[in-house]
Amino acid sequence: RGARQTFGRVTLITILATGGIFYYVTQRERHPGPQLPHDPSKKSVVVVGSGWAATAFLKNLDTSDYNVTVISPRNFFLFTPLLPSVAVGTLASNSILQPIRYLTRHKSRRVTVIEAEAKSVDPVAKTITFADETEVQGEVSSTTIPFDYLIYAVGAETQTFGIPGVKEHASFMKEIQDAEKFKRRFMDCIESAGFPGQSKEEIERLLHMVVVGGGPTGIELSGELHDFLEDDLKSWYPELSNNVKITVIEALPSVLPMFSRELIDYTVSTFKESKIDILTGTMVKEIKEKSVVLQMPDKTMKEVPVGLVVWAGGNKARAVSVDLMSRLPDAQKNKRGITVDDHLRMAGTDGTIFAVGDCTSTQYAPTAQVASQQGVYLARMFKQLAKRDALLEEIVAAKLQETSTESLEKQHAKAEKLRPFHYSHQGSLAYIGSEKAIADLEFFHHKFSSGGVATFLFWRSAYLSTLFSLRNRVLVATDWLKVKLFGRDLSRD
Ligand code: FAD
Ligand code: NAI
Repeated sequence: RGARQTFGRVTLITILATGGIFYYVTQRERHPGPQLPHDPSKKSVVVVGSGWAATAFLKNLDTSDYNVTVISPRNFFLFTPLLPSVAVGTLASNSILQPIRYLTRHKSRRVTVIEAEAKSVDPVAKTITFADETEVQGEVSSTTIPFDYLIYAVGAETQTFGIPGVKEHASFMKEIQDAEKFKRRFMDCIESAGFPGQSKEEIERLLHMVVVGGGPTGIELSGELHDFLEDDLKSWYPELSNNVKITVIEALPSVLPMFSRELIDYTVSTFKESKIDILTGTMVKEIKEKSVVLQMPDKTMKEVPVGLVVWAGGNKARAVSVDLMSRLPDAQKNKRGITVDDHLRMAGTDGTIFAVGDCTSTQYAPTAQVASQQGVYLARMFKQLAKRDALLEEIVAAKLQETSTESLEKQHAKAEKLRPFHYSHQGSLAYIGSEKAIADLEFFHHKFSSGGVATFLFWRSAYLSTLFSLRNRVLVATDWLKVKLFGRDLSRD
């Protein structure tokens, strides 16, 4: 009995202590302390964007060394790997968003955050022009500011190759609004198919979901759609669910070219079991309001009726990046993105503009992994640059006082040596539906591939741990539990 009482007390104390720590951590997050004001003697750093590269930089930067300004049209960070889960209602939108001020308010020196879109960068005058393009604007909605250093991290936009009808009729899967719009349109297709008197052909058309692009975005979205169908729609729309058809269209001979052959085959066979059609070697040539025009592998053309098309055709440079590159035509010849050197300095500039993430064109794939490692690298480099600048000032002061500068100059020479960026690939992970995921991992230079339910659990835990904050982790874990208990929400909100 005594042992049971002791066990009970220990359990109670553990629960109370954990609750107390959790409460303390959340309150500390909610109520950040005072910050140092901007210091006119420090150099200014303007960060453009609030995505993977920019936030990794901001998280790791010692802001006591600089006056930092962030400019981004969205005042939050978006955890893109879980975007397809939002598109089918597995997760709520704000579970994978984190307002950028939750990060900047915790920095040692005040960081200015401006919700605006960069319109142009002048690499010679070292200025950036930006505008507030939101619905509500004040008297001033456009301005130009100077910078000492610019961290250019605007990401990329979706490549449409100028194919007719894509912009007008397709949904995308890049921003949070895309996922929300997709869910609304998807539910609209289902409800319209259920409208009385609809012909069999029209029901089949409305319930034909076409995903263009067999890259990881297209594959993950198709897998999530299949889960929505199996777990929820079959129960609530039994008369329609059998007509839902998902087709993935890929121009290349294979889907997921970045994964190993073994995992590509595993994905193809899982999709076959899930009755998701994959058409490889097939190119979308036009998207019409109610159909897609395909060029089949034998080069014949075919028009297929569709209810909803999602375009996941890859990346292209944003207009602001194209404009910036056009100002340095001799050094910026690659149309895919900004050319940088080994230290991520934009080619053709004097080393004050750094470009990171999807807006660059490098040997690395445009992934969150690369973008965040580049952000971390730059933050470290900026610590070194601050040290170098401080030493330079000390050398000048010592020279004025006619004291020895030998030791300072040695330290300065050391601080001048900047290490180049080195990317360390941690592997590739993707969800393929039916509670299965695929992973190509690397441990100590050994490659390891796996696919299935255990990999799905690994996928979930890996993303749960990489989410931006404790708040996001709690929200995502709660959403997963809610869906397990109550299913996905079918409301067309
Ligand atoms: P982004 O994260 O796109 O950030 C760009 C920022 O710039 C945004 O804040 C944007 O608002 C801002 N911006 C845009 N225009 C302007 C402007 N004119 N002025 C100022 N700011 C501007 N990668 C992985 O490694 N693993 C994954 O599992 C994975 N899953 C993905 C799933 C989906 C659905 C998608 C779309 C991508 C996924 N990626 C994944 C790729 C990954 O999201 C990108 O590589 C990553 O977002 C690149 O980071 P970035 O900082 O360069 O750009
Ligand atoms: P992607 O560039 O990887 O794939 C786009 C696909 O669309 C290509 O395979 C292309 O051949 C195809 N395509 C283009 N036009 C077409 C047409 N007209 N008809 C048929 N097919 C057409 O783009 P995605 O999937 O958006 O990924 C972008 C980046 O984000 C990649 O680097 C990817 O690795 C990364 N990412 C990583 C994820 C992960 O690791 N789980 C998840 C999502 C994205």
